[in-house]
Amino acid sequence: MEILDLRHFSSVDLRPLLDDETRVWASLLSWDYNGSAEMILRYVDAKILPGYAAIERGRIFGYSFFVYEGSKGVVGDLFVANGGRLPNAPEVEIRLLTHVIETLQQSPGIHRVEAQLLTHETGSVARPFLDQGFQRHPRLFMVLGLHSGVPRAPAAHPDVEIRRWTEADYQPAAAVITAAYRGHVDAQINDQYHTLSGSLRFLNNIVLFPGCGLFDTESSYAAVDRKAKNLIGLILCSRVRGDVGHVTQVCVLPEYRSRGIGESLLAATSVNLRKRGFSMLSLTVTEANAGAVALYRRLNFDSKRVFDAFVWEG
Ligand SMILES: CC(C)(COP(=O)(O)OP(=O)(O)OC[C@H]1O[C@@H](n2cnc3c(N)ncnc32)[C@H](O)[C@@H]1OP(=O)(O)O)[C@@H](O)C(=O)NCCC(=O)NCCS
Repeated sequence: MEILDLRHFSSVDLRPLLDDETRVWASLLSWDYNGSAEMILRYVDAKILPGYAAIERGRIFGYSFFVYEGSKGVVGDLFVANGGRLPNAPEVEIRLLTHVIETLQQSPGIHRVEAQLLTHETGSVARPFLDQGFQRHPRLFMVLGLHSGVPRAPAAHPDVEIRRWTEADYQPAAAVITAAYRGHVDAQINDQYHTLSGSLRFLNNIVLFPGCGLFDTESSYAAVDRKAKNLIGLILCSRVRGDVGHVTQVCVLPEYRSRGIGESLLAATSVNLRKRGFSMLSLTVTEANAGAVALYRRLNFDSKRVFDAFVWEG
């Protein structure tokens, strides 16, 4: 087995592996990975996707890629064909990741590396990250079936209006996100939350790129203080499969918490999706974010998987 630069290959070489990966995302997470796969293949053909491929008898059977975002490197994905069924798959995963981590840590100007590997069980690919000084944050992938148990919106809060998300909400939303995640464990995992410009980039990524599904305006909501008329909370939802929604962001300003606004936002999204025939709503949450985990459990979200987020600061 050889590990080679991904830029030696074309979409023709990589497509069978991505077809395999699309099946894995569908069965583990109920995500339609086709949009992401097509984007990856376009980048591969343009020879602009940095990463590595595992090759045996001329065939790619594993790959991992990463992207540069300013002074940060983000591990985009890791996939080895047949997952656990291939006897040496775990070893191939470790070798691919070791190459990616070394490359990123040695890239001039890169001071931070982040990775979230949703299809990999917590701990299963941790070794190369921990060996290189990364922090590990276990995260839960949770789902809510929409045919049963959709949360009912709690009694409307008299001072707060929950209304449909609009284009005009982007700028104020960046400010709400920055304030909501100050000192929060998720700001250690994603440094975009640290600044207004970072939070705007985060919003842009969600809305413009299909990496996390297609942004769904209809099931995204804003919480507004009726008197002050300012945005105080939000929920953003993307369509990750024809009938599956995924919450990409939910937050409420600290001074407005514990009044049922978070619950109302989640209820608004669930009710909207259910009306439109969606069967499921998913989200990810950091295990250490105990309040949010408790809220989701109370609303009948079920924990389906535990995966890891890794962060390194040089
Ligand atoms: C998670 C978050 C969105 C929840 O928002 P919220 O408006 O505080 O949520 P709710 O008020 O609906 O529920 C929170 C708590 O208030 C309690 N509560 C709900 N309605 C209440 C009311 N009318 N009066 C008093 N308490 C109430 C709930 O029992 C719940 O208790 P818990 O702490 O045991 O779970 C908010 O804490 C937040 O923005 N956190 C930072 C960002 C974040 O972690 N986002 C989630 C990432 S996955």
